[in-house]
Amino acid sequence: MTLLDGKKTAAEIKEEIALEVRELKDRGNKTPHLAAIIVGNNGASITYVNAKVKACERVGFESTLIRLPENTSEEDLLNEIAILNIDKDIDGFIVQLPLPKHIDEQKILMAVDPNKDVDGFHPTNVGKMALNLPTFISATPFGILELLERYQVETSGKHVVVLGRSHIVGSPMSILLSQKRKVGNATVTMCHSRTKNLKEITLQADIVIAAIGIPEFLKADMVKDNVTVIDVGITRLADPSKKNGYRLVGDVAFNEVAQKSDFITPVPGGVGPMTIAMLLKNTLLACQRNN
Ligand code: GUN
Repeated sequence: MTLLDGKKTAAEIKEEIALEVRELKDRGNKTPHLAAIIVGNNGASITYVNAKVKACERVGFESTLIRLPENTSEEDLLNEIAILNIDKDIDGFIVQLPLPKHIDEQKILMAVDPNKDVDGFHPTNVGKMALNLPTFISATPFGILELLERYQVETSGKHVVVLGRSHIVGSPMSILLSQKRKVGNATVTMCHSRTKNLKEITLQADIVIAAIGIPEFLKADMVKDNVTVIDVGITRLADPSKKNGYRLVGDVAFNEVAQKSDFITPVPGGVGPMTIAMLLKNTLLACQRNN
């Protein structure tokens, strides 16, 4: 069993980005600048956004964090986006999801200038991704592709089973892995809450990508020997023995599934750190494209 070490791989990618930033600066070019908007007080979201901002500092990017109160109106949020869209110093920005219920998420994502949409959530960029055209690939699927590539996990001709059909992970992951690309050419089955005979399908998988948000859903009896398992789940479960009061649990029953796996990602330290590294990569790309 080989652990797909996202923490180590993300650190390597960030080192590569930091080197590029130093070279950009040495040549007198613009320093990449990422902005993030967060609305409300969701604990997990605040942790993620803070981690993104900190990662910017580490690689030498500029960063701007815009914190708005929970009761921010849709109109005010659209105004903030309009300001970032025309701010020449901002190369890319993200609006952290989920948003409060009174705000129409799709309307917000569509307001972001596709050229600054480093999350790759704008329909224009999702469309380009689906057509295998150059664009910003969303950080989580992008991170999974990168992890598979760097560990030389063969995907061509393999049966990939994706659990979950979210716009952020399941759907783009299914599309990308079926495409003609370096990490791709797979036969993909996408499963979701209405899928029948799920275990029958996962037992046929060479690679399982679990992105359903149900702690320890994928058990050892659901996978075949020598499987590769990518665990996208990160649920916070209450744990009084921990200093912060919770522990992170993935969608995979790690200890039992690892025994049957050739490759497997841990939680934490697997896909999570990769998403931040790939967001930085997209921001660097935006800076290079837009200047
Ligand atoms: N919430 C969970 N994942 C993401 C992400 O990749 N980007 C944004 N903006 N919000 C998220």
